[in-house]
Amino acid sequence: MRVGWAVVAVLATAVSAVPWSSLPLRLKRDQQGANEADACRSLPDFHVFHDMFAALRDMQHVYFQRWIGTWPDGIDWTRAVMATHVAALLRTLSEELELAQPTEAGHATSTEHVISGYFADLIAYYFGQDAFAIRNQAYDDMLWVVLGWLESIQFVDRYTELLSSVSYPELAAAPETETWYGNAWVPAFAHRARVFWELAAKGWDTQLCGGGMVWNPRLMPYKNAITNQLFISASIGMYLHFPGDLNTSPFVAALHSDSPNHLRVSLYRDWRAHDPVFGTSAQEAHRWLASSNMTNAQGLYADGFHISGYNSGGNNTRCDERDEMVYTYNQGVILSGLLGLFRATGRERYLAEGHMLVRNVIRATGYDLARDRPVDDDHPRSSKPGMIQRLPAWRGLGRAGVLEDACDVAGACSQDAQTFKGIWMHHFAGFCAPPAAAGRWWVDPAAGLDDAAVEAIRARHAAACRGYLGWLRHNAAAALGTRDERGLFGMWWTAGLLNVTAADLGRLPAGALPAPDPAAVDYRNGGVPADSVWVRLPSGGDGSQADDDDAPSPRGRFDGDGQDQRVLAAGRRSTSTSRGSKRGAEFSGKADVGDPNLRGRGRTVETQGGGLALLRALWVVSGHEL
Ligand SMILES: *[C@@H]1O[C@H](CO)[C@@H](O)[C@H](O)[C@H]1NC(C)=O
Ligand SMILES: *[C@@H]1O[C@H](CO)[C@@H](O)[C@H](O)[C@H]1NC(C)=O
Ligand SMILES: *[C@@H]1O[C@H](CO)[C@@H](O)[C@H](O)[C@H]1NC(C)=O
Repeated sequence: MRVGWAVVAVLATAVSAVPWSSLPLRLKRDQQGANEADACRSLPDFHVFHDMFAALRDMQHVYFQRWIGTWPDGIDWTRAVMATHVAALLRTLSEELELAQPTEAGHATSTEHVISGYFADLIAYYFGQDAFAIRNQAYDDMLWVVLGWLESIQFVDRYTELLSSVSYPELAAAPETETWYGNAWVPAFAHRARVFWELAAKGWDTQLCGGGMVWNPRLMPYKNAITNQLFISASIGMYLHFPGDLNTSPFVAALHSDSPNHLRVSLYRDWRAHDPVFGTSAQEAHRWLASSNMTNAQGLYADGFHISGYNSGGNNTRCDERDEMVYTYNQGVILSGLLGLFRATGRERYLAEGHMLVRNVIRATGYDLARDRPVDDDHPRSSKPGMIQRLPAWRGLGRAGVLEDACDVAGACSQDAQTFKGIWMHHFAGFCAPPAAAGRWWVDPAAGLDDAAVEAIRARHAAACRGYLGWLRHNAAAALGTRDERGLFGMWWTAGLLNVTAADLGRLPAGALPAPDPAAVDYRNGGVPADSVWVRLPSGGDGSQADDDDAPSPRGRFDGDGQDQRVLAAGRRSTSTSRGSKRGAEFSGKADVGDPNLRGRGRTVETQGGGLALLRALWVVSGHEL
């Protein structure tokens, strides 16, 4: 069977009023798949492509407001993540769609129209982003901003490169002065990425725990996985993709280069591409994290470390009080950092570390990679294939082979947690993207690897990534099953495989949730406990004495935004099994609706971003099968 080029007709829906929504777009992958076996195998992917594009269209038309340049229901950090998803998807579209057909130039115009249309949203968001507020938030909040603009820069670079390789008369006429207009925005994106990287780098501290990023300067010292993974990925991303920044605004106070608390970062300098400070920061942060003992018995990152006795005048400086809470995103952000470290150094051990983490995650979803099927596949099936009637057991980071956060099954996820799985998928996609889709070059020539060595590593990496496709397809099938009649994705992907209603889940069976663990504090869903472990207190008293200016107040801004995170009442800790978070209680009135994904916060821009990122991961990684 020979399949020629296919036209992916992007269907208009009721919510979509854009002029390009019904234009035909042509996929390159068709032409590559002209040989019979490939064409057959890649056929289902066209559905993935269509669904992926629809996910972007719905995200921007349902949740983005162009007149204010933002997703109003997001919060500062989740909006930065949504912009990252849009930019990443634009890079994928630019790589996968035919940019020009010499004989049918109209197709190129359609593609350019679509890409520029969504790129305009990113420009709008550049101004819609509340950069001023984020400057005063936690270090992780700042680093999402860095990753977002680096992603946008990579998109512009890649798209420009692809455009210049097809016949574009304007570009050919004057290559020095005429280029795709998106390039005019790169200095702005680069400037914001640089400013926020520099602000965040102040969170590096060597007085406690021998190094590591502090999460939030207004709380007790807490060195967590996310802030450190973000610093690794953002720093190596700056090393690889930042084009330089000669704009010295804003003038912030200079850091003291002799302070042991700070990386040696000097201000009022010209920031150039490939500045070594980015690479050494990434390596140093990786070295610290790798030796921090932050992974648990399943090989998954626990959330982070406090320093025992810090609040009661002891002189302990060791990270020795681990919060055992496991979240999906803590297993994801480091993946793009590991790929970047490999590309910068040529050391394959960074890739090996990433694959080990990915396999640990997949195992913890209850999936057997060796047999390429879920371990809990023996449940009575309903008449509809793929539907499981009984709720499979929690396996550490999911069930039935599908990725989950602990809050998913109970519908108790906060706005933060609704963003987590999409983040995992985004960084996984970056890690496993075939080299052609990963950017202009694969390994830094300075690493000194010859072509044969690079090719051998590439082949091993590709084989490992191909091995995850069955699991990815299983997850995509689940997530697609959560879409409502408008096509919007739900939070709890597993529900798409199960024939369960919200009422069925009113009493969760034993084993449906993680075993209660007092050492696992689910502060992302339950709020930060106002106790002496988390909050700076005058003298180790209880939370009611917290009147320090630095301490968060229950009504004040805290951890990035005042809209979501609140300090719980004194002494109250919510464990991973707690379902009584403020967020959950606020929405509990909806819990009797049949669709399990209407419980809690329901469908949001964050859950839509999650579906988008999952489909993009499947599409990109399936490129290894071509
Ligand atoms: C502080 O550290 C010293 C030496 O490590 C130790 O002897 C001393 O008992 C510690 N003091 C406290 C209050 O922990
Ligand atoms: C690593 O952390 C775990 C959990 O806190 C602890 O039980 C173990 O002793 C630690 N190992 C080392 C070498 O510090
Ligand atoms: C789902 O379960 C209900 C009973 O709870 C049953 O009546 C229905 O047929 C099932 N649906 C499918 C598609 O199996």
